[in-house]
Amino acid sequence: MNDDGILYLDRAAIEGLGIGAPEVVDALDAGLREKGRGGVVMPPKTSLHGPERAFCQVLSAWLPDSGALGVKWVTIFPSNAAKGLPAVGGLVVLSDASTGRPQAILDGGVITARRTGASAALAARYLARPDVDCVGLLGCGVQGKASVDALAAELSGLRSVRCHDAVPAAAAGFVAEAAARLPGVEVVVCDRPAAVARGAGVVVTAITMSEDVAPPLDAGRLEPGALAVALDYDAAWSAAAMAECARFYCDDTGQVLATRAHGPRLHGIPETIAGDLGELAAGLVEGRRDRGERLFCLNLGLAVEDVVTARLVLARARERGVGTPLPI
Ligand SMILES: NC(=O)c1ccc[n+]([C@@H]2O[C@H](COP(=O)([O-])OP(=O)(O)OC[C@H]3O[C@@H](n4cnc5c(N)ncnc54)[C@H](O)[C@@H]3O)[C@@H](O)[C@H]2O)c1
Repeated sequence: MNDDGILYLDRAAIEGLGIGAPEVVDALDAGLREKGRGGVVMPPKTSLHGPERAFCQVLSAWLPDSGALGVKWVTIFPSNAAKGLPAVGGLVVLSDASTGRPQAILDGGVITARRTGASAALAARYLARPDVDCVGLLGCGVQGKASVDALAAELSGLRSVRCHDAVPAAAAGFVAEAAARLPGVEVVVCDRPAAVARGAGVVVTAITMSEDVAPPLDAGRLEPGALAVALDYDAAWSAAAMAECARFYCDDTGQVLATRAHGPRLHGIPETIAGDLGELAAGLVEGRRDRGERLFCLNLGLAVEDVVTARLVLARARERGVGTPLPI
């Protein structure tokens, strides 16, 4: 590959490429299969905790077989909501995997949303019943919306979404956007958090993390046969709710254990992790065994997902001549 400078891709440039959710889900699937087979270098993400519950993370991955190498610097500032700013922002830097030369700088917020949503759809690919027609969503923010977009592409039978947000305007905004983006899918706003799980075959949670608020979803809420996908660590589901699931999966077992060992969260998750998305994608562990079991998947977010999504975006941008070239 030529050493042809750095391409800068901002949010508008990335969104303008029109990359569909199925492409992102398939890119994650391939990257995680490579990881499951053991060929990927991906240390657990590093977290920096600051004031007002803000935290920043460094996520890095190297996928030698698919030639992807990069790092994401992501900032999560919950207090941004009150300032009218996105909670999540950051940058992804890609390097040429054969020379190490810098290739691209991409907006990290949109990459994060696209890959986080795709991670929920990938969990559904391996762990949900194939005929799910209703999805529950708790937290109608950036990650929640991206998850429903990706799930709508993954679950061909999806007919309805039951959602709730602590801020009614956020739920109303989600309904308005979904009506335009997801024709044929009815969106129902629920008045209580637990109501999102009623009749839902997949329940995605993406609420703001807080140490002060007890998880709003307790045991007995997830219906038999349903899959819970938690994108918000242990903020949404109680320990009892996680424990009542037949098996507990995650996106990366090593990262989950490291996060629990070195931080304030995840101390109530089950002791046994049945497998992770890489192992599921590589066929190394079993997914759903029957239609009646409740399953849980905890997706903390992986560097592999960021890097393969950014690489997909870079390839498409090069094809289309999109982006701002920067000198090295
Ligand atoms: N797993 C991952 O890969 C990943 C990636 C990015 C962000 N996150 C996490 O996902 C969560 C959502 O991130 P986001 O970017 O969508 O944030 P966001 O601020 O856009 O959305 C969060 C939404 O949750 C709502 N909310 C907060 N507390 C609630 C509660 N108790 N009940 C119902 N609704 C509630 C807020 O009103 C808001 O609409 C955060 O916890 C964030 O740290 C995870």
